[in-house]
Amino acid sequence: MIAVVREVGVKDTAPEPQDLLEIAVRVARDGAATARRMRAEGVSAVATKSTATDVVTAADRAVERQVIADLRAARPGDTVLGEEYGTSGDQSAGGTAVRWILDPIDGTVNYLYGLPNYAVSLAAEVDGVVVAGVVHNIATGDEWTATLGGGAHRDGRRLHGSTETDLAQALVGTGFGYDPARRLHQATVLLGLIAQVRDIRRAGAAAIDLCLAAEGLIDAYYEKGLNLWDQAAGGLVATEAGLVLGGLKGRPAGPDLVVAAPPALFGHLHDLLVELDAAGGP
Ligand code: IPD
Repeated sequence: MIAVVREVGVKDTAPEPQDLLEIAVRVARDGAATARRMRAEGVSAVATKSTATDVVTAADRAVERQVIADLRAARPGDTVLGEEYGTSGDQSAGGTAVRWILDPIDGTVNYLYGLPNYAVSLAAEVDGVVVAGVVHNIATGDEWTATLGGGAHRDGRRLHGSTETDLAQALVGTGFGYDPARRLHQATVLLGLIAQVRDIRRAGAAAIDLCLAAEGLIDAYYEKGLNLWDQAAGGLVATEAGLVLGGLKGRPAGPDLVVAAPPALFGHLHDLLVELDAAGGP
């Protein structure tokens, strides 16, 4: 156990990543069950957010509320950053060094259409460092987990990423934002990339894309415009599988760009993305 003295003078004990992961897995599975049940009953209360194509369903909100309540019951005093409700936390419980980062349904458009590629993504940060994460595919039950320093796993199997070394032979995943102007820029980048790689995949859930790269089911992945909740859990799964996760020109992975690739591919893909100004545009 690591002793942490917090600014407020409260001395608490930072929980072990494995303990946080166990909570995350349980809570994510329960959230996934709710999303599945609600889908079986019919997707309802679809509203739009940033643009007319950026949707939120009643299930996104219900799962987020449920996960927040479950986390609060398990660990009062932690804060939660979620896609739908922002930051919540009960500081009257004393406050802790733990922040949970949640995307209740990553791949909401797939959820809407019934394409079986959408996930609960839940990560735990301790003092700003992601130490545990789970990505649970709601439709299939596939589950990827990682703890900091403890490796990445899918259903108990350790993950090591792709062994591909030649970008021209690499299957590269990516995604597009909801803003039409951003998409146009992303499409321009893709135009420059597609003839230089084996092929492109756009599966519609960034958290799962990062896990597919961790597993070597795609060789690499990049995307501009991701939020923390899209990448926190999947990013840890990717790095714990041995992938390099970063932005361009030494910047960390973030809204400008997230690139995840095995060390042998990262440099070449990075340079090409710099050339194509992948982190630029709106
Ligand atoms: C979206 C998905 C998609 C990615 C978008 C994300 P959401 O998240 O991860 O694959 O391309 O950038 O916003 O809206 O389904 O939670």
